[in-house]
Amino acid sequence: MPRIFERLADWRDERQGLERAGTAVGFVPTMGALHAGHRSLLQRARAECDWVVLSIFVNPTQFDDPADLARYPRTLEADLALADGLVDAVLLPAAEELYADEFRYRMTEYALSTRLEGAQRPGHFDGVLTVVLKLLNLARARRAYFGEKDWQQLHLVRGMAEAFFLPTEIVACATVREPDGLAMSSRNRRLSPAARRRAASFPSILRWAADPASAAAALRDAGFSVDYVADEAGVRLGAVRLEGVRLIDNVRL
Ligand code: PAF
Repeated sequence: MPRIFERLADWRDERQGLERAGTAVGFVPTMGALHAGHRSLLQRARAECDWVVLSIFVNPTQFDDPADLARYPRTLEADLALADGLVDAVLLPAAEELYADEFRYRMTEYALSTRLEGAQRPGHFDGVLTVVLKLLNLARARRAYFGEKDWQQLHLVRGMAEAFFLPTEIVACATVREPDGLAMSSRNRRLSPAARRRAASFPSILRWAADPASAAAALRDAGFSVDYVADEAGVRLGAVRLEGVRLIDNVRL
């Protein structure tokens, strides 16, 4: 079983020891409810780094809807079982310690973060970037691993790391999909069996529609409520709702 760190002082002591030994640390930040997509990030970190730390923290500042935060699955025991053998340490910080400043200090990006997900979920990326900056500063990793499913998150985190000269390399990892094509997500488990079957058409409609407007129309015809579909830098991005469950995905054009 990996070592678990709940207090930041204990983690800092551990991190100092690794620093002295020149250990290349790999870092995978998560909000828990781990699935095969997270496993693939951990496997990549394991293959590329000497030592791997996973963080699990359901970050309140990135939820614009308190009901969504309350519903977010918390499955610590299963998460630790999935991570067993892949990680050396698990960081489980307390909100009081991570946000000792009560979110008075925050990281804001003023362009990409205001569109697409940012337009639908005001303040979301301030919360994501702020917590990722805190976690990257704590982990001081050689590399940190992010999934391409959260395309905007990945690009914003990478942009922040460049803009602020962070020493950590941000590694993009391909989206892991279910056999029927649906991107792995902690939210999938909230779909009813019928909605889960219907959800499989989301990525294929994004991929095969001629343009964003026809993709949005086809998604509506298939029973989704559509937040947006947009083409951006060779990628088609979409966000939809099914039975109130919000799904995002993107495919290369
Ligand atoms: O992708 C996630 O799980 C979260 O947005 C992250 C990067 C762990 C920050 O809370």
